[in-house]
Amino acid sequence: METEEIKRTVKGRYGECAETGGGEKSCCCPNAAPTCASFATEHGLYGQEELSLVPQVARTLSKGCGNPTGFADLRSDEVVVDLGCGAGIDIILAAHKIGPGGKVIGVDFSAKMIERAQQAVAEARLTDTIEFHVADLERLELPDVLADVVMSNCVINLCPDKVAVYREAFRILKSGGRIAISDVVFTGTIDPKVQERFRSTWAGCLGGSINEEDYFEIIRKAGFRQVEIVSRHPLSPEELEAMACCPGPEFTPAPEKEDLAVARGKVTSIKFTAIKP
Ligand SMILES: C[S@@+](CC[C@H](N)C(=O)[O-])C[C@H]1O[C@@H](n2cnc3c(N)ncnc32)[C@H](O)[C@@H]1O
Repeated sequence: METEEIKRTVKGRYGECAETGGGEKSCCCPNAAPTCASFATEHGLYGQEELSLVPQVARTLSKGCGNPTGFADLRSDEVVVDLGCGAGIDIILAAHKIGPGGKVIGVDFSAKMIERAQQAVAEARLTDTIEFHVADLERLELPDVLADVVMSNCVINLCPDKVAVYREAFRILKSGGRIAISDVVFTGTIDPKVQERFRSTWAGCLGGSINEEDYFEIIRKAGFRQVEIVSRHPLSPEELEAMACCPGPEFTPAPEKEDLAVARGKVTSIKFTAIKP
């Protein structure tokens, strides 16, 4: 698929997911209740106390693979940008951490996802702290040196030009600012033909995933330093199957079982931080 077709496909799938209320299954919790609560708690993504701060619409449409506000070390009055905010679970948690003196900007290129996030933010009574920006992460159209923290949860794997995304993240951060990212990477060699098939349908979180070494090279080349891995979680076969058709099998065709078997044990959900010097 060409770059523009990939973006149209991804935007269309997530837009449809937002419009239809999330589908039968979530990519982050294939067999769990729609709130994701049991999966999230089991894997340490979100605690019950955190989930109690988040309106149902944002919980149901949560499609992440981590919990960036859990390791971003957010402080009062900071400015936080969430790349690919989806229906808003992490921007709501961030707003609670930074308080009324700070600002959170949720960015997503799906206007339909943003509508859902606006609904959740209104229900959480956080409209004074949270703003939205509809944009492609590869061209943010936000001012330079705006943010203390840039976070993102299971989004950058979906972007064809990861160099541009990290260049933009670096540009909008203040000096001394940090990134706190959850994402999906390949941690083993995958047959190039199989990888090509994942790419040809842009299969969920596998279509755009790249090797971990190449991923961190992009981050260092963008200028980030002090990269620290917070945790690594190799996907179980069940998680891999679900992630491969994120945001849900109604929206993204599942890869062939044999192709998924090739990827088993070679796909990892990572959480990390890094600093703009
Ligand atoms: C897997 S969901 C994660 C959403 C949210 N971070 C969460 O944890 O629930 C990916 C989100 O990223 C958005 N997205 C994907 N590619 C994007 C791009 N190039 N620019 C802006 N948003 C993008 C999608 O519209 C979708 O809302």
